[in-house]
Amino acid sequence: MRPLLSLAVSEACGDDRPELSDAVAVAIELLHCASLVHDDLPCFDGADTRRGRPSVHAAFGEPLAVLVGDGLIVMAFECLARAGSGAPERLVPLIRTLSASAGASTGLVAGQAWESEVDPDLEAYHRAKTGSLFTAATLGGALAAGADPARWQALGDRLGEAYQVADDLRDAVSSPEELGKPARQDEALERPNAVATLGLMGALERLHMLLRQASDAVPDCPGARGLRELVQLQAKRLIPKKLAQSAA
Ligand code: FPP
Ligand code: MG
Repeated sequence: MRPLLSLAVSEACGDDRPELSDAVAVAIELLHCASLVHDDLPCFDGADTRRGRPSVHAAFGEPLAVLVGDGLIVMAFECLARAGSGAPERLVPLIRTLSASAGASTGLVAGQAWESEVDPDLEAYHRAKTGSLFTAATLGGALAAGADPARWQALGDRLGEAYQVADDLRDAVSSPEELGKPARQDEALERPNAVATLGLMGALERLHMLLRQASDAVPDCPGARGLRELVQLQAKRLIPKKLAQSAA
């Protein structure tokens, strides 16, 4: 989802340096994968499956899983540096954007750290843990194409929050087989989550609202229609089938 979003935004902004747009999409996915490898470790969620297969630490042991995550983070920035050496004026803001999305004050690291707090603010937690990489995808897609990133902030913010609310809903109502990872983890690990705060139907309503806001946040541009279609497509994928039926 994140690389698709980043590439769609680059395309909508003219995509005059496709090798850089590709590198941004890849770097974002590498950061995402790094965060999942670390998130599954016993010191965080202790999840033994991911995407229907053993998680990295379950298959190869904890020390290698820590190193895999570290290696993926480094690889993300290496990939950016290789593709962006011919366009340093784009590379510098790209590095700043991606590091902010992964780092300790506003990014993934901050989001994960909120889990050590007793009663964190749900929106701030979701924004840092999940929203940050979606926002990096929209801002990064625009920056790679030499466009003004500010117009793309709201789309990333709304989609990121929607994605996390959907993840919380799926965690609450799906089976481990459907998810390809352990289910009901938010409740078991007492994680702050949208279902605990808003209830099932409240979280579903919030998801619908965020997806509408994401669609409305697509700025006027030649690719606007395609991007709105992408949001609609993701909406269908994100809303758990069971809940879509009961809401209908
Ligand atoms: C999955 O959440 C986890 C995240 C979105 C972020 C994890 C971040 C870290 C471990 C910090 C490390 C940072 C970097 C840059 C590697 P979840 O547990 O709600 O989702 P899940 O059900 O898919 O596990
Ligand atoms: Mg987890």
